[in-house]
Amino acid sequence: MPNPWTNPDLLPPDEARSLARFIAARSEIPDQQQAYLALVEVLAPRAGESLLDMGCGAGAMARRLAEQVGASGEVVGVDISKAMLAVARQGAAWPHLSFRQADGLTLPFAGGFFDGALLARTLMHVQQPHEILIELHRVVRPGGRLAVLEADWGTFVVDHSDRLLTRRIIDWRCDAIDGNNWMGRQLVGRCLAAGWDIGRVQVVVTVGRDATTTHFGSLRRSADLALQHQVITQPEFETWVSELDARLASGRFFATANEYIILALKPESG
Ligand SMILES: C[S@@+](CC[C@H](N)C(=O)[O-])C[C@H]1O[C@@H](n2cnc3c(N)ncnc32)[C@H](O)[C@@H]1O
Repeated sequence: MPNPWTNPDLLPPDEARSLARFIAARSEIPDQQQAYLALVEVLAPRAGESLLDMGCGAGAMARRLAEQVGASGEVVGVDISKAMLAVARQGAAWPHLSFRQADGLTLPFAGGFFDGALLARTLMHVQQPHEILIELHRVVRPGGRLAVLEADWGTFVVDHSDRLLTRRIIDWRCDAIDGNNWMGRQLVGRCLAAGWDIGRVQVVVTVGRDATTTHFGSLRRSADLALQHQVITQPEFETWVSELDARLASGRFFATANEYIILALKPESG
């Protein structure tokens, strides 16, 4: 199934805009903020640093980094999508924060330009993740760092009475939609393969217990898509979703997923 996140600009313009608005809103949701806050803590931006947010989307993290490096630093948000960058540019404008359109495979910066880089929820969507990690290694200075955040949807669990149907939907969701859903568990291996050392590994478990978290919507979407793609039948769809709705109404909805944060370090001699 085509992955809309690989390049949102390939979608019809109103769909691309709606993805950008979704990304902007998502960064405000508490379960998502938990992972983003942990990611910034792992990168540990310092005043005066020059930082890159690769695959910056609607720019929320780039703005957070810009606050931390202050006016003596510099933050550049890069994204392949003009639709994403249009939303990113609507936020606070500071002279030390800029947004540029570029493909992460060929970043328009000299080698060693940045003290550090951030890569949030993007690697699972790119077609050449190894080459992206190598390109980031090039633009970060020796001794610099990269903080990466990716979910692993093989860790998506949901409480439901029908185990077999739940496995079918969740496994299909993991294997067939939205890119490489095993990226979380692959981060350490992939960073090492691209020449990074591993400084720290952290796991954030996002917990969904109500409709304000992203998990409920994500499960509903998975069931919708599974039905559309004839992975499940209409009666199976209705049985599965109506139990999720009933659980939500009675406070018994429960789902979790693991998000992995890696601090990768560029060796001084790299
Ligand atoms: C799921 S969004 C994540 C956005 C943001 N990092 C966040 O966490 O909210 C993935 C982003 O990666 C961008 N992207 C995908 N492939 C890219 C590439 N090759 N180079 C640069 N950006 C890319 C998409 O346009 C999209 O904005």
